[in-house]
Amino acid sequence: MPVLEWLTKDIDLKTSFLVPYRVLKPEPDLGYGNPDVPNMLIQGDNLEALISLRPSFAGSVKCVFIDPPYNTRSAFAQYDDNLEHTKWLSLIYPRLEMLRDLLTRDGSIWVSIDDNEAHYLKVVMDEIFGRANFVANVLWQKRTSPDARLSLGAAHDHILVYARDIRETRFNKVPREDDTKGFANPDEDSRGPWASTDFTAQGWRPNQMYRITTPGGKTYDPPGGRCWANVEPAFKTLLADNRMWFGRTGTSRPRVKHFLSESEGITTWTWWTNKEVGHNQEAKIESKELFGDGNAFDTPKPERLLRRIIELATEPGDLVLDSFLGSGTTAAVAHKMGRRYIGIENGEHAETFCAVRLRKVIDGDKGGVSEALSWKGGGGFGFFRLGDAVFDEYGQINPKVTFDQLAAHVWFTETKAPYMGKATTPYLGEEDGIAYYLLYNGILGDRRPDGGNVLTRQVLTDLRAHNGPKVIYGAGTRLSSERLVNLGITFKQTPYDLKVR
Ligand SMILES: C[S@@+](CC[C@H](N)C(=O)[O-])C[C@H]1O[C@@H](n2cnc3c(N)ncnc32)[C@H](O)[C@@H]1O
Repeated sequence: MPVLEWLTKDIDLKTSFLVPYRVLKPEPDLGYGNPDVPNMLIQGDNLEALISLRPSFAGSVKCVFIDPPYNTRSAFAQYDDNLEHTKWLSLIYPRLEMLRDLLTRDGSIWVSIDDNEAHYLKVVMDEIFGRANFVANVLWQKRTSPDARLSLGAAHDHILVYARDIRETRFNKVPREDDTKGFANPDEDSRGPWASTDFTAQGWRPNQMYRITTPGGKTYDPPGGRCWANVEPAFKTLLADNRMWFGRTGTSRPRVKHFLSESEGITTWTWWTNKEVGHNQEAKIESKELFGDGNAFDTPKPERLLRRIIELATEPGDLVLDSFLGSGTTAAVAHKMGRRYIGIENGEHAETFCAVRLRKVIDGDKGGVSEALSWKGGGGFGFFRLGDAVFDEYGQINPKVTFDQLAAHVWFTETKAPYMGKATTPYLGEEDGIAYYLLYNGILGDRRPDGGNVLTRQVLTDLRAHNGPKVIYGAGTRLSSERLVNLGITFKQTPYDLKVR
């Protein structure tokens, strides 16, 4: 497959292997609301943060939305948007790789971008996600009128959409409420507003060629070249259920009623107008309402745009991730929509915009999509910063790393799956018939620094039994290789056998 080449690409492909693996340090004073809700706001460089999230969240994120710097050569109040083109590619490539690994098999990634980098981004994303997993290039109409300063100004941004695995990914329909034009209730039907469609179909089918008499006494045969849309018994059922419409006088040609309350929603396409999902100006107004006139975020997205994406790509309870969080739009909308979320932002505005905004959301903020979603408040989020590196420069485990942090890492290294829950014993769990154990930080109760970290006969008797192969991580073993083989144990030495990625 043809790929994009740039000067530092070879180095950029290895970047994520060189970045230290850090633990996430909670900042309880900056979180808000219900502490049991697993939503996370992380301040720090997103490559480091994504690497830290891998052991717990690989394969768990249903929808990634990112709105990275577009490289417009502008300096915004909150961040600089002027990278040399190669540097921009170096920024985006390793982060997209990490994001791909966090997606569920049926997950999707949505990346908003403009003409400065869109076409390069498409090629890079083809390479990382696979051309076959390209879903669409959504054109979002971001302006309501042309920019008078430019002779050919841009009206749209691109939103590149890729599936993690196109065979698994399905998108939802968009709720009707976005488009209720044409629905009314002229006969005051208790099922609410409805729209009607013609009750005919193309062609000639003998059992769909009957005569219909309307309630007003008029008779109709199918028009030339067409038949009725259904066979006579089905028509009678619809009639008895008051689902046929013959106009206010009861004498017009038959039509079928479709109730808004029964509608599954509408399918969308790649042209998203500002009327449907908002525009840049709307986003700016939302930001001013949140942060005050002189303090709006420079490049926010409108909440309606995020609502559309989250609606299409997720169900309530699914995990949404934005690693270029800006002023926090994705997290705020995901919160109001009952999705779990992780937001990452390296600027000071993680605290001054995102956390402030999420607190307002939890307190029942009325702006953006709140009214449409009948948002009343509630929930919570935790605030995190990037903490200590798990391994020091010599590859030794940093003693500040806790047992459960290393356990999540061991589990991910072995199974490539996130570790659910909090490990409190050496037995971490079983996968495909293999049991995994970690001896670290005196987990067996011996408080001496290395106590219990070495696999001895005594330690082995203390470990939870497993009738099958075992993988045991520890600082060393006193058991002979022969004995290990006889016991079905693969021993792995920390830190040497613990690959960071
Ligand atoms: C275009 S803004 C996102 C705006 C956001 N969609 C909103 O609605 O407010 C891009 C954001 O990415 C952040 N950013 C850039 N590089 C980053 C990095 N390496 N790690 C984390 N955040 C980064 C910038 O600070 C900026 O806030």
